[in-house]
Amino acid sequence: MLFISKKDINKISQNLIQDAVKDAYELVLSNSYNMPDRIHVQDEKNTLLLMPCFSNAFFATKLVSVFPDAVKSNQPAVNGVLVLADNRTGQPLAIMDGAAITAERTGAVGGLGVDLLTSIDLKTAGILGAGVQGLSQARYLLFNREIAQLWIGDLSLACADKMAQTLKHEFPNVTYVTTDNSEELVENSQLIIAATTSNKPLFRDDPALVKGKTFISIGSFKPGMKEFPDSVISTADHVYVDTLFAAKESGDICIPLENKVVELGKIKPFVDLLEKPISLENKTIFFKSVGMALFDLTVASAVYKLALKETMGQKLDF
Ligand SMILES: NC(=O)c1ccc[n+]([C@@H]2O[C@H](COP(=O)([O-])OP(=O)(O)OC[C@H]3O[C@@H](n4cnc5c(N)ncnc54)[C@H](O)[C@@H]3O)[C@@H](O)[C@H]2O)c1
Repeated sequence: MLFISKKDINKISQNLIQDAVKDAYELVLSNSYNMPDRIHVQDEKNTLLLMPCFSNAFFATKLVSVFPDAVKSNQPAVNGVLVLADNRTGQPLAIMDGAAITAERTGAVGGLGVDLLTSIDLKTAGILGAGVQGLSQARYLLFNREIAQLWIGDLSLACADKMAQTLKHEFPNVTYVTTDNSEELVENSQLIIAATTSNKPLFRDDPALVKGKTFISIGSFKPGMKEFPDSVISTADHVYVDTLFAAKESGDICIPLENKVVELGKIKPFVDLLEKPISLENKTIFFKSVGMALFDLTVASAVYKLALKETMGQKLDF
């Protein structure tokens, strides 16, 4: 049994992680996985998610919690543990830092979204939410595109400035602009990625503000949570979700469905893009990710195989 820490996981190349996310979509296409809808356990504002999934070679369970107010005590909102096991023998193979796996795979889910839903010439982008997922989204965005100007927006300008400083060391050629005004960020960005714990839309409901841009929502994972105003989904020429469960789970999809702002038929699984790429010119595009256990499974499997090859991680006696 191996223990694979955050430090080990953070050393792994973005290429390997993004390929592993693509592997998850390939398994969806071939229907070679077994995954129930994830279980939410609610305790007032806090949530525990139980995320099991089987593939042919491995199975994994991630236990991940989201404590939205943890930021007030300088702690991460998302924590967790992932157990990877052998699907021939049932034996547990590895325990991994579930928060680190989540941050990397979610960054890569956004990264693949950027790759398939924005022009190769994309130059301006904005990240709303300068927390753990916001930083990971920025890293995968900059891995996929040569951005000239990156806006970073957060309720706390200090958080946005801190994220800009971190990124400046890693990607010195980018110009960073920080703001606590999300509308200014949207006006100045061709791509907007939101990774906040907000329950309410982050900017005004105005079709003129959103037309012709690409929007990726990473945050809202409960029916009462919504990051974007209805104009994003109603103006969008294309709407994608990483899993169709998002239509039940996220307020960004289920609220406009309930209010008949959009019809269910407009919402397509992201995996369609692997088979049928779309023309992006002058299009408004919305991609909503809630995450799924299958991403954790394929990323954890790739991490485990690499750990065996490069003798990473710590051996544990069970
Ligand atoms: N789609 C997925 O697969 C996936 C995976 C992991 C986490 N998430 C979700 O992403 C969200 C962010 O997680 P995190 O770990 O980065 O949390 P975090 O606490 O580290 O960061 C959240 C940031 O959002 C900011 N924020 C909150 N409300 C805002 C608003 N109205 N305007 C601007 N900024 C605002 C906070 O100030 C904070 O800096 C959570 O809701 C989490 O559940 C989604």
